[in-house]
Amino acid sequence: MRKNIVAGNWKMNNTLQEGLELAEELNGALEGKEINCDVVICTPYIHLAPVCATIDTDLIGVGAENCADHLSGAYTGEISAPMIASTGAQYVILGHSERRAYYGETNATLKTKTELALANDLTPIFCVGEVLEERENGTFFDVVKTQLEEALFGFSAEDFAKIVIAYEPVWAIGTGKTASPAQAQEIHAFIRKTIADKYGKEIADGISILYGGSCNASNAKELFANADVDGGLIGGAALKVETFMPIIEAFN
Ligand code: 13P
Repeated sequence: MRKNIVAGNWKMNNTLQEGLELAEELNGALEGKEINCDVVICTPYIHLAPVCATIDTDLIGVGAENCADHLSGAYTGEISAPMIASTGAQYVILGHSERRAYYGETNATLKTKTELALANDLTPIFCVGEVLEERENGTFFDVVKTQLEEALFGFSAEDFAKIVIAYEPVWAIGTGKTASPAQAQEIHAFIRKTIADKYGKEIADGISILYGGSCNASNAKELFANADVDGGLIGGAALKVETFMPIIEAFN
């Protein structure tokens, strides 16, 4: 069956030294503990190689927060999927709403990035989610469906089965507002049904669908208790071990 996953998204936080310290501290906190989910940290590019070399990568998966939409060449400042894989990282967040909103990423670009990630054995953590207006006017189901269809539904079932989905309502990211457990379950079930309609129930049942948006120690247990919520993509609360660990332990 599908995996439960708690993934941290550090965003643009932590110097190299601070990031290494945080990763080491998390590694120490997880050692010898009973953990009932996969733990992943997605870090800025510069942290990937040293973090992979420092921590036990069987205990903590490591991921990037983005990758280029080209394989190699004259794209100054970009980092490719093979470069990310060469650090030892196994995951890459794609389509985060901050990338969509501030860097103009479209579903078409994200399709290419996902293709490159999969071709380089990286597991995409693919983000979907609506803005507040779309939640309030009820179009959020269509918005999320279109994001899935345009970016991901061109893949074969075999490839699609390798993707992790993160539902992140934009109005809940960094705002302290969380989707209620019922709201999360409703849209996660919709996402799974949309996947089942395209790829069949077996594939849909195997896909991990994470919730992201102001997830913290006090709401994680209730959110993760829902049948279709398979963990979380955590921003602010992933920046300290004392706030990240209780979210991981919400599965205990
Ligand atoms: P916060 O947990 O800080 O709301 O961020 C969520 C997020 O964007 C994770 O990708």
